[in-house]
Amino acid sequence: MQNFLRRKVTGPGKATITDPFPEPHQRARGADTDLAPAGLARCPAGHPDAPPPQDARREPGEVWREAEEFIRLHHSEEPRASQASCASCAAGGAEPARRLAQVREEIEETGTYRHTPEELAFGARVAWRNSNRCIGRLYWRSLQVRDRRHVADAAGIVRESAEHLRLAGNTGRIRPLITVFAPDEPARSGPRIWNEQLIRYAGYPGAAGAGPGSGGTAEAEADAGAGAGSGSAEAAAEDRPVHGDPRNAGLTALALRLGWPGGPGSPFDVLPLLVEGRDEPLDWFELPPDAVLEVELEHPEADGWAEFGLRWHAVPAIANMCLEVGGVCYPAAPFNGWYMGTEIGARDLADTDRYDLLPRIADRLGLDTTSARSLWKDRALVELNRAVLHSFDRDGVTMADHHTESLRFLSHLERERSRGRKAGADWSWIVPPMSGAATPVFHRSYDPTERRPAYVHHPEARARSRGEELV
Ligand code: ARG
Repeated sequence: MQNFLRRKVTGPGKATITDPFPEPHQRARGADTDLAPAGLARCPAGHPDAPPPQDARREPGEVWREAEEFIRLHHSEEPRASQASCASCAAGGAEPARRLAQVREEIEETGTYRHTPEELAFGARVAWRNSNRCIGRLYWRSLQVRDRRHVADAAGIVRESAEHLRLAGNTGRIRPLITVFAPDEPARSGPRIWNEQLIRYAGYPGAAGAGPGSGGTAEAEADAGAGAGSGSAEAAAEDRPVHGDPRNAGLTALALRLGWPGGPGSPFDVLPLLVEGRDEPLDWFELPPDAVLEVELEHPEADGWAEFGLRWHAVPAIANMCLEVGGVCYPAAPFNGWYMGTEIGARDLADTDRYDLLPRIADRLGLDTTSARSLWKDRALVELNRAVLHSFDRDGVTMADHHTESLRFLSHLERERSRGRKAGADWSWIVPPMSGAATPVFHRSYDPTERRPAYVHHPEARARSRGEELV
């Protein structure tokens, strides 16, 4: 038994948690800084009006249509891999006829089919290529795929997710990686990870609230406070409704209800993983510390930044999107690339409904915050983003900057065009959240068409990551 595995929680049980947690911080647009489209390309099982995935029955005809399109795409782009992977297929031939016949028969018998390892890897990579919101797609081919389709229990998912984080973190040389767990099947749903990312920071009720939550100890609170100067993130939390990351307040409350005792009470306590194994109730599991690579933030020149006590995790591993390939849904398939600095410096730490640090940074820099026209927000934003890039560089942790990544993205579009493929993009997500017009991606438009395979958001999965469950 791994030491990070905890006892089963005898609680409300699988998929019965219905109390909606208030989400005052959710924003309509841009708050969900994920890679893939929110609405259009969506697993049929995840349609907002459809019953929850557990009860979903997909028409074999629909599965077949998507399967056929995918098998043909795979064959056209990787003819050799597509032939080699199919043991019973004759070599050569322009049409993937045998593989199609095999898939069709399997769908008729079972309502679904099993991808070959080559199909799975191709599907996961092309789903990245098709992520219209992602600026980092130049390297879509380099995505490494861990095929863990045989894993469906929560303990196995946590163990493999921790290993995913170690491999992806790679002591700083971040590797784009996906781990694919058991898919949804017609008669039974696959496992689910409720967290939005494998690593996220807790958001406890702040201000007058209990700091680390009802389960937190007085010692933990005292420890967390000790040594934190008046300029610290601790102190900043005092007058805020949430201590830590407000985005994760709902999931934090749910974890505490399930029996998680809370972390030490810092603004950057790593949340446990909340996992629903196949046919198992929801349970919480602490991540082993060696799986969580983090960077402490300091400014390249300004003194006193250590007092802020800022840090961020190195690997952005999205855990609640469904990988949808050729009519098959893989609801638990955590994947990561590497960070672009502005995701942390211009959003996670700066948004007023996240860590909201600009006023305090402006104070520290001695800027005039009484007038918008001093551009104190803009100046604080630049220095915060310099601190993020500098600190990741200092620790040798891979991170892109928005100027370089914008150029790479235009190379990606050009490369796709030269291969005769169409590439979609969503301007409002591609343009970086600071200095937009100073990057070349601002000055053009894009084809917004959604393509498959894709990483998709099921509405239920979004609700789960807020600690809710749709009824
Ligand atoms: N924007 C998200 C965050 O700040 C991460 C989304 C994925 N980003 C990536 N570079 N792969 O945590």
